[in-house]
Amino acid sequence: MTESTTIRWEQDETGVVTLVLDDPDQSANTMNQAFKDSIAAVADRAEAEKDSIRGIIYTSAKKTFFAGGDLKDMIKVGPENAQQAFDTGTAIKNSLRRIETLGKPVVAAINGAALGGGYEIALASHHRVALDAPGSRIGLPEVTLGLLPAGGGVTRTVRLMGIADALLKVLLQGTQYTPRRALENGLVHEVAATREEMLEKARAFIDANPESQQPWDVKGYRIPGGTPSNPKFAANLPAFPSNLKKQLAGAPMPAPRNILAAAVEGSQVDFETALTIEARYFTELVTGQVAKNMIQAFFFDLQAVNSGASRPKGIEERQVNKVAVLGAGMMGAGIAYSCARAGIEVVLKDVSTEAAAKGKEYSEKLLDKALSRGRTTEAERDELLARITATGDPADLAGCDAVIEAVFEDTALKHKVFQEIQDIIEPDALLCSNTSTLPITVLAEGVERPADFIGLHFFSPVDKMPLVEIIKGERTGDEALARAFDLVRRIKKTPIVVNDSRGFFTSRVIGQFINEGVAMVGEGVEPASVEQAAAQSGYPAKVLSLMDELTLTLPRKIRNETRRAVEETGGTWAGHPSDAVIDRMVDEFERPGRSGGAGFYEYDENGRRTRLWPGLREHFTKSDSDIPFIDMKERMLFSEALDSVRCLEENVLVSVADANIGSIMGIGFPPWTGGVLQYINGYEGGLPGFVARARELAERYGDRFLPPALLVEKAEKGETFHD
Ligand code: NAI
Repeated sequence: MTESTTIRWEQDETGVVTLVLDDPDQSANTMNQAFKDSIAAVADRAEAEKDSIRGIIYTSAKKTFFAGGDLKDMIKVGPENAQQAFDTGTAIKNSLRRIETLGKPVVAAINGAALGGGYEIALASHHRVALDAPGSRIGLPEVTLGLLPAGGGVTRTVRLMGIADALLKVLLQGTQYTPRRALENGLVHEVAATREEMLEKARAFIDANPESQQPWDVKGYRIPGGTPSNPKFAANLPAFPSNLKKQLAGAPMPAPRNILAAAVEGSQVDFETALTIEARYFTELVTGQVAKNMIQAFFFDLQAVNSGASRPKGIEERQVNKVAVLGAGMMGAGIAYSCARAGIEVVLKDVSTEAAAKGKEYSEKLLDKALSRGRTTEAERDELLARITATGDPADLAGCDAVIEAVFEDTALKHKVFQEIQDIIEPDALLCSNTSTLPITVLAEGVERPADFIGLHFFSPVDKMPLVEIIKGERTGDEALARAFDLVRRIKKTPIVVNDSRGFFTSRVIGQFINEGVAMVGEGVEPASVEQAAAQSGYPAKVLSLMDELTLTLPRKIRNETRRAVEETGGTWAGHPSDAVIDRMVDEFERPGRSGGAGFYEYDENGRRTRLWPGLREHFTKSDSDIPFIDMKERMLFSEALDSVRCLEENVLVSVADANIGSIMGIGFPPWTGGVLQYINGYEGGLPGFVARARELAERYGDRFLPPALLVEKAEKGETFHD
């Protein structure tokens, strides 16, 4: 018999066995080799001592209940060790199944986060009681890492709640529920306020259900809502196929597809066969590139970014107490809300108190909506609003130890608003600008303390967008960078750090995507195909509709400014094939985008997009040779990836993790790629494969696709892009 090293067996005098998950070598319990041995040992002992056992409770001695699979191992699984991974998974599942079918009541007392493997242990229990601990989350988020829950997660959720609910509520979105929301959605049976209450409830279930069984182990069991082989199923089927279609949009996202297949196929066979089907679909995912990309980005890179890999070392954290937000327009209003939500006092200033009050109304609207949906309480709403002071008077900024400026995009105006307040705010206050295009170094020339001046580039809508791009100007000090980083973390956003340059990192790189799409229109490619190529690459926004939203005059303005800057420094301006298309759209056809009522699309009187403008096909005629669809897709992806490498070369980017996370969370680079640089790492044939393909695209479409020296060098040395 193997020994249990990570699960303690604690049996009371009434015969209730508490299995305490407690890996002595790690801060959290994970599905490692020790757990595999321990759960097998526990199952053996439970079978051997069955007569003296009245019931079983799983709980944990750690802060989290169970952390799931070990991603460090999972990212390394390739075809060569897939069988081993499969066998380990099967062994753990068999042990859980033996306990589940022992004939005794089994309860999960979920004392903290139970995500992935943790919730799968809970699913292998007859009853689930969750402790309502702050920050605790329950669910199966595997899909967000390009995987599926193969510890029985698909098989059991389908049998617990029916195919449709299992897919929509748990499997396809990977939603992480708070214990209360988990209760509302049927993921757990009870919620407890304290650990004692949780264990009492677990014991009460055992007392009341001495013969408990899983519903699916009871004779005559049917999957709720039916299965595809049952004629009633179609009638009960809600909207999930259309939901899934929206989510996939043709992008190479194998996880949702495999989850759907495992759920549907598994629903038509017996329980044990369903487990095998689920495992087979998992193996296909875990050995593939997309899961590796997504684990790299959403686990390793995200952790590195948020834990401060790009924050200067050795600078103590200093909390901001009171923030001044200058400009209460769209961005300022959102920034004020995000700060106040994090408990920070905000003084929201505009040209008049009325204008500022309008900005504050934005918070009111968001809060009223949250209130009507039960997401906040009246008291919380009032407290948050009380933290925002709307004013037109600079004197009200006294005591502010940080400023975030969000007035119109105009250097002189930005200089003026900082000058107006610099003697009123705290003498060492952090000075931030939310400019989207103006160089931070130039803006810093307008303040007395350039070392305390930094760019904080938020994305719109601020309350929803998770990313903030921090931009270091030439004279920005480390202290300011550390404080800006801490402020962004305090408002629960993800900070990436870049050096100053035109368009910084995000705006510059997304510009490449848009230019490439527009250039194809100029080459006579069917506009609908351009949009389709963006969607099928996995971009959340189609390229021409995005250009319309941003307004076609904007790239013109940026282009002219950039050209001037390049020529002033003695450089030559190469331009881009999209320039001519934009010029014709604006000057000749007077179609500047959605705000002007006409762009690549047509709009009705309410500003709603109706259809692509038929004039595009008439005025931009088709070239002789057809462009393969794969080229259309890769031109967009490559243009962004290649420019990101140039950002690394130019020291605009300093961290690979920041590049990957910034591209996915800030500018919609397709998540399946793992981000702009991971896309290159994971490209077929690795870096050499990517270089070869870039050269091919350069040959066909122009020198902008030529691989930068850094990329070629790394490919030759056999390296990849990693921090
Ligand atoms: P907006 O036009 O909605 O708001 C600007 C606000 O500044 C107005 O309420 C205006 O009354 C106020 N203002 C003008 N002069 C002022 C003064 N002297 N003192 C105080 N307030 C004054 O503009 P939006 O979209 O909020 O943009 C603000 C800044 O954020 C710009 O620098 C923009 O480039 C940047 N940004 C915009 C993004 C967007 O998606 N709109 C994204 C990221 C950055």
